[in-house]
Amino acid sequence: MTRPILISPSILSADFARLGEEVRAIDQAGCDWVHIDVMDGHFVPNITIGPNVVKALRPHTQKTFDVHLMISPVDQYLEAFVAAGSDIITVHPEAGPHIHRTVQHIKSLGVKAGVVLNPGTPAKMLDYLIDDVDLILVMSVNPGFGGQSFIENQLRKIEACRRMIDKSGRAIHLQVDGGIDFTTAPKAIAAGADVLVAGTATFRGGAPAYADNIRKLRGG
Ligand code: DX5
Ligand code: ZN
Repeated sequence: MTRPILISPSILSADFARLGEEVRAIDQAGCDWVHIDVMDGHFVPNITIGPNVVKALRPHTQKTFDVHLMISPVDQYLEAFVAAGSDIITVHPEAGPHIHRTVQHIKSLGVKAGVVLNPGTPAKMLDYLIDDVDLILVMSVNPGFGGQSFIENQLRKIEACRRMIDKSGRAIHLQVDGGIDFTTAPKAIAAGADVLVAGTATFRGGAPAYADNIRKLRGG
């Protein structure tokens, strides 16, 4: 089955001194969403950006802000990220005590809710969340840094998630994040993914290369 493939560049690999400009450049280069990696130096060993930066970027594009929260605790920050202009908020089950409640909370704020599976977390984690989520994110690296290598055995998990989504009959995006490049993107797509996050592979070569990079990641 062919499904539209969406590309969500991770701005973690952008030039942080010129973030607004970089977001406009990937928008013009044809990205579908903008992936924003939020890290707290506690849940993951790196610190990136907070809601103020999301808010500052909002006027630069109309595209979907796909906000990946790698922070713990997470619940008390959801309102701030929604107010800043997030369209999709994705959370890790390990980041709080009540993932089901967190998903409901995100949805009650009027945005879409995603759940992330770390490389060591089984697809089974989704059994009682699949009725509520709008997106499943399979991490193909351990979260925390861009530029890591794709973990091949996550392809089996993508396949398992694709089966679960098809069985549910619900419109749920299946996203993959980490080590996506021109070699691994087709594997993730063949396994059933429909949204590819790519940091290094989008931003490599600077702005003149973005449109080509995005087109190649999509398989065009
Ligand atoms: C890792 C982040 C990813 C990362 C991907 O924790 O969630 O979004 O930026 O970077 P690449 O595409 O370089 O692996
Ligand atoms: Zn991410």
